[in-house]
Amino acid sequence: MYLDCNATAPIEPAVRETVTLWLADELGNAGSRTHEYGLRANRAVQEARRQVAAVVDADANEVIFTSGATESNNIAILGLAAYGEESGRRHIVSTAIEHKAALEPLEALEARGFSVTLLRPDETGAVSAESVKDALRPDTLLVSVMHANNETGAIQPLSEIANALGDHDAYFHVDAAQGYGKDLVPLRNKRIDLISVSGHKIYGPLGIGALVLRRRGFKRPPVKAIMFGGGQERGLRPGTARPADCRPGRCGRHGTQGQKSPPAKVPRDQAVCLRRARTSGHPYSCSPGAHTIECHELLRPRRRLGSGYGGPQGYRSRF
Ligand SMILES: Cc1ncc(COP(=O)(O)O)c(C=O)c1O
Repeated sequence: MYLDCNATAPIEPAVRETVTLWLADELGNAGSRTHEYGLRANRAVQEARRQVAAVVDADANEVIFTSGATESNNIAILGLAAYGEESGRRHIVSTAIEHKAALEPLEALEARGFSVTLLRPDETGAVSAESVKDALRPDTLLVSVMHANNETGAIQPLSEIANALGDHDAYFHVDAAQGYGKDLVPLRNKRIDLISVSGHKIYGPLGIGALVLRRRGFKRPPVKAIMFGGGQERGLRPGTARPADCRPGRCGRHGTQGQKSPPAKVPRDQAVCLRRARTSGHPYSCSPGAHTIECHELLRPRRRLGSGYGGPQGYRSRF
């Protein structure tokens, strides 16, 4: 059984309305600022940029829009490669529990001659800040650790890792697809240089995400583009911005920390009882949207048990 608001989450009605407005009624290209249509589109994109930045206490001009956390991770990880090669820093620290969207770009860098240390979590699903510190080398270019794990929900100790990095030069990237907007404080830590965000995990549309590139002093992390085109998004993510998609959902605007989800409503005939069940995530440091329960006995088992998710509109099931 998989109770899930991770794989994706339903779009918030207010966001759906905005998306529809920009797809159906508004016409402008945010890059064409010589007329009112384009200017309006550009204002909408900039407003969305401010909203995304505010959640992690960044500046709007530190945010670029992407197609999702996968692309953000790719830009963050692959985009640092050229700098690593020029500066002779070819070591990366990450974890064995990262999403494929981080592990695969890391593998691509390994094939290019980088050395990647993948840390293992303890039995609670979290890696320790000490293990990150022990893995650091003088030539470590990047430390990339996810925020909340997409399967166990285990929240990684980002603040402790930020402290452990201290004034080591390594860039600190966080794949926050499962934590952004839900667990606010750790992502505001100024030692985190790069943050990947996914729209559809926070009640926004599918196919939109963001990468926050926090400046150190006046310097943006030396990430180079991995795609080329019209120079949009500070040259890092070319392509016409779609104001319709640049709307973060409720979490993206305010964060949901401290909010209680409405109680799940499970139709009577779909209810099952779990026996001999235990959670396999962290006992207390766990994302509200992700948890794994291992169950060894079901009462009233059904022929097919599928997945469901508890979203803002209550429980939906797919049996
Ligand atoms: C931790 C994590 N990283 C990255 C992704 C990919 O996000 P997107 O679908 O926005 O590309 C996901 C989505 O499942 C995820 O859970």
